[in-house]
Amino acid sequence: EKAGFDHFMLKEIHEQPKAYRDTMRGRVSEDGRSVALSELSLTPEQIRGINRVHIVACGTALHAGLVGKTIIEQLARLPVETDVASEYRYRSPIITPETLVIVVSQSGETADTLAALREAKRNGAHVLAITNVVGSSVAREADDAIITLAGPEIAVASTKAYTSQLIAFYLFGLHLAQTLGTQDEAFVAKMLAAMQALPEQVEKILAQAETVKELAESISKHNNLFFIGRGVDYAVALEGSLKLKEISYIHSEAYAAGELKHGTLALIEEGVPVIALLTQEDLFEKTVSNIKETKARGAHVLGIFNEGHEEEVAKSVDRGFAIPRTLPLLTPALSVVPLQLLSYYASLALGHDVDKPRNLAKSVTVE
Ligand code: F6R
Repeated sequence: EKAGFDHFMLKEIHEQPKAYRDTMRGRVSEDGRSVALSELSLTPEQIRGINRVHIVACGTALHAGLVGKTIIEQLARLPVETDVASEYRYRSPIITPETLVIVVSQSGETADTLAALREAKRNGAHVLAITNVVGSSVAREADDAIITLAGPEIAVASTKAYTSQLIAFYLFGLHLAQTLGTQDEAFVAKMLAAMQALPEQVEKILAQAETVKELAESISKHNNLFFIGRGVDYAVALEGSLKLKEISYIHSEAYAAGELKHGTLALIEEGVPVIALLTQEDLFEKTVSNIKETKARGAHVLGIFNEGHEEEVAKSVDRGFAIPRTLPLLTPALSVVPLQLLSYYASLALGHDVDKPRNLAKSVTVE
């Protein structure tokens, strides 16, 4: 049932190209120029009435939501807040009938996420679920659902569910943009074409698993490391850090690259690994300055960057891993893949139970 892979996690990492294709299939018009989310009951009129969006989830699903925030703000120019589901109800959030609440949950059964959904509905919001399980509590109770078609996810550490959630956000962001007229047709078509290229680009990354394995083996000798990035790279840094902690038990922290110098830089000493994401071209120079701050204190930096930037990157990092070029908003769907592989191989090198990490359950049904 592991289809020749040693672990479910590795199998699921490798299933991502298929999960992307399946999640997009039937949701893009035949000419490839527009999104067609025919499963939604949300009418154009309702969409025009939305004045704020709340994205609520836990763990990895929340990290997908952090990318979702940028996607919706950039594509649809609607203000978006993201919340940890276990905090949402207790901060008396401002929820009105003009609020769209998006809950993200692979399993569709996470207790805190479900409670947040109910609170949102009680206050009259329209609730959209992004979930991987048809017929789950979240799918049933939400007003609308976009089902990610990642297929069953067995490994406790979420991989293909996360990336399929990103695909769902890209599609939904474009759906909002088409309805609100915030992006022109040419842009929508361009973004969809770039999305169609993602599965093959992920395959290219997967073909370099051996390189990531070597990097993971060197990282596994440390007990403390950092992930840094700006913009969507920061959201991906959070996910990379969670994945590593979850299955390798190596402590790591993710920081917005510019925030390190406000305290955390004190923890950087000789040899501490720093994984820096550099996929946002407009933020490249700024992140490079932050990398230099860590290197001046002895950090060993691994850079994840866009193909074509080899020379510039080589000047500031110790090791690099290039991802294929795509649109800036789409890089998370690629850059997270080497980080998933990194945590997988680090866990393996340390001899841990990759698929069933200690203290964790696949579905968290307690608050
Ligand atoms: C981490 C992981 C968890 C889940 C979280 C929410 O790899 O899997 O952080 O993302 O427990 O679960 P769902 O998405 O089922 O609501």
